[in-house]
Amino acid sequence: MSPQLLPKHDLVYLTEDASHDAVIELINAEAFGPGRHTRAAARIREQGPHDRSLSFVCTDDGETIASVRMTPVFAGAAKGHLLGPLAVRPSHKNKGIGRELVRIAIEAARRKGSQAVILVGDPPYYMPLGFEKVAYNALEFPGPVDPGRVLVVPMAPDVHARLKGTIYWRK
Ligand SMILES: CC(C)(COP(=O)(O)OP(=O)(O)OC[C@H]1O[C@@H](n2cnc3c(N)ncnc32)[C@H](O)[C@@H]1OP(=O)(O)O)[C@@H](O)C(=O)NCCC(=O)NCCS
Repeated sequence: MSPQLLPKHDLVYLTEDASHDAVIELINAEAFGPGRHTRAAARIREQGPHDRSLSFVCTDDGETIASVRMTPVFAGAAKGHLLGPLAVRPSHKNKGIGRELVRIAIEAARRKGSQAVILVGDPPYYMPLGFEKVAYNALEFPGPVDPGRVLVVPMAPDVHARLKGTIYWRK
């Protein structure tokens, strides 16, 4: 292949700001479809804003192609963050971008003193990235969730013991 035919990727990871809002909405609509607002995790995100300082986008040659958001929550007695939505445009899947966004978001939350990064997602994708299963039905979401998909990166002592009760947005 001649050099000009090689696929070009100039990936940059940036902290989210308001200028990304519209394109993130499109990326999430494309990834999750119209039902996305009714999911239990989305209902927590409706309770208050996400933390932009812990939310990141990936751009390719200046175009935003992936996003991860983090929302501050109390999860039982733990002060943590809810990770999601995480979405990568279909054109850019399977290049490690999703994994890298998760890694960056977890490290940023850890630096900010978060005790736990929680999400509802596929264990085969997230467990190799440091997530563990939360005790079955220990956390109560504002809507139905599959308890086997509630995962956490514990970042303080005794986090699993404190993940009991309601999960809800915090300031
Ligand atoms: C899931 C998603 C974020 C992954 O992003 P990505 O940048 O394509 O993923 P990465 O390149 O980091 O990782 C790719 C690997 O994860 C695997 N993978 C992707 N989705 C997976 C899933 N749901 N369950 C298990 N493995 C999955 C791929 O098969 C690939 O495996 P390989 O490395 O062995 O080939 C992306 O596919 C996406 O936006 N999907 C639609 C929205 C979504 O489902 N978000 C997650 C909500 S839980």
